[in-house]
Amino acid sequence: MKHLFDEEHDRKGTCSVKWEFIQRGEDLLHWDHTDACFGPDRILPMWVADMDFRCPDAVVEALIARAEHGIFGYTAPTDPFYLSVANWMERRYGWKIDPSWICLTPGVVPALNMLVRTYVSQGDSVLIQPPVYYPFHKAIENNDAELVLNPLLYEDGKYRMDLADLEAKCGDPKVKMAILCSPHNPVGRVWTKDELVEFGKICIDNNVLIVSDEIHGDLIYPDYIFTPLAIINDDFAQNSVICTSPSKTFNLAGLQTSCIIIPNQDLRVRFQKTLQANGLFGISIFGMVALQAAYDHGEEWLAQVLDYIGGNLEYLEKYVAEHIPEIDVITPEGTYLVWLDCRRLQLDKWELKKLMLEEAKVYLDEGFIFGPEGEGFERINIACPRPILVEALDRIRRVIGRL
Ligand SMILES: Cc1ncc(COP(=O)(O)O)c(C=O)c1O
Repeated sequence: MKHLFDEEHDRKGTCSVKWEFIQRGEDLLHWDHTDACFGPDRILPMWVADMDFRCPDAVVEALIARAEHGIFGYTAPTDPFYLSVANWMERRYGWKIDPSWICLTPGVVPALNMLVRTYVSQGDSVLIQPPVYYPFHKAIENNDAELVLNPLLYEDGKYRMDLADLEAKCGDPKVKMAILCSPHNPVGRVWTKDELVEFGKICIDNNVLIVSDEIHGDLIYPDYIFTPLAIINDDFAQNSVICTSPSKTFNLAGLQTSCIIIPNQDLRVRFQKTLQANGLFGISIFGMVALQAAYDHGEEWLAQVLDYIGGNLEYLEKYVAEHIPEIDVITPEGTYLVWLDCRRLQLDKWELKKLMLEEAKVYLDEGFIFGPEGEGFERINIACPRPILVEALDRIRRVIGRL
């Protein structure tokens, strides 16, 4: 069956964060201007990382069937649920996981906060690699740990890890944890196995626990290979906590379901204690049903959506090269998020934000929210129908043309 990703869906009235809200500092405000009514002045929201596509039909059907039952009392996952996760990891990546390693949380971000609280004492440090997904910074600050930065290096249009700096920083005994973004949001790198081996060895040699956020791991462009950190060898598996979820892969973020995979029993028991201490037992019925349907029946949809997003990326790269040459596109290897180097426009961060949001009326994620390393960059979400992308790029071209 061919899915119709070109079709626009009106998300207005669905409480969609992307379409109906705006981030103002720490607050998320309901914002009428993001009206999805299809007038010429609507803001095109291309920020938050969800897709403007319907999820696989198999997921919708499974949710409807469960909803029709009409009784939504307490539920807990049974063996088929855990097997769906394990089968997905084995089928896609050859990663054999024992279902007992899976801990369930209502999202990767809540898990990151709880992981810091579990393994890092007050005053100890956690290392991250900016520019990086901004809730990483928050998870550390929220839990009274110190932030240690190992910024990525950006050379010749490509990002890589600064391993010498990593080694120096991990040498500080206060650094207890490193949060790896794999694939990396926002720069779009899919770390090679060699890079992961080097990163992991440095952490392991220095007794630094690795939390690998692999939420984008299923969204990989052709020619790149995603390597789950824990398959590298048993030392890596025993020294890491892997965060996964079907939410980016199948556009299910509102169902708040994620799997935190912890092969090391001692580490797992400690995290389970934190879950208990927060009164968290399992996930919602609908998250459970959707995960299973997606992992069991969503593979063909995923292939098609990746193909469509790949087409969007090709369009964007060609359009920007031809019509907006002042912007450099950092070609992503994975994720539907594209990191744009806008520094040659020579605008400060507020002028750049005003240009995109108020003049072009395209709502992007400002690069600086990923850390000061991201100043002068913008992140655009291309998981949208192509006509929206076409319109957004036209608007950006027009306002830059007037500078
Ligand atoms: C790297 C990364 N981790 C986690 C999340 C969010 O995870 P969740 O919605 O499960 O909390 C995102 C969403 O954009 C992300 O990019």
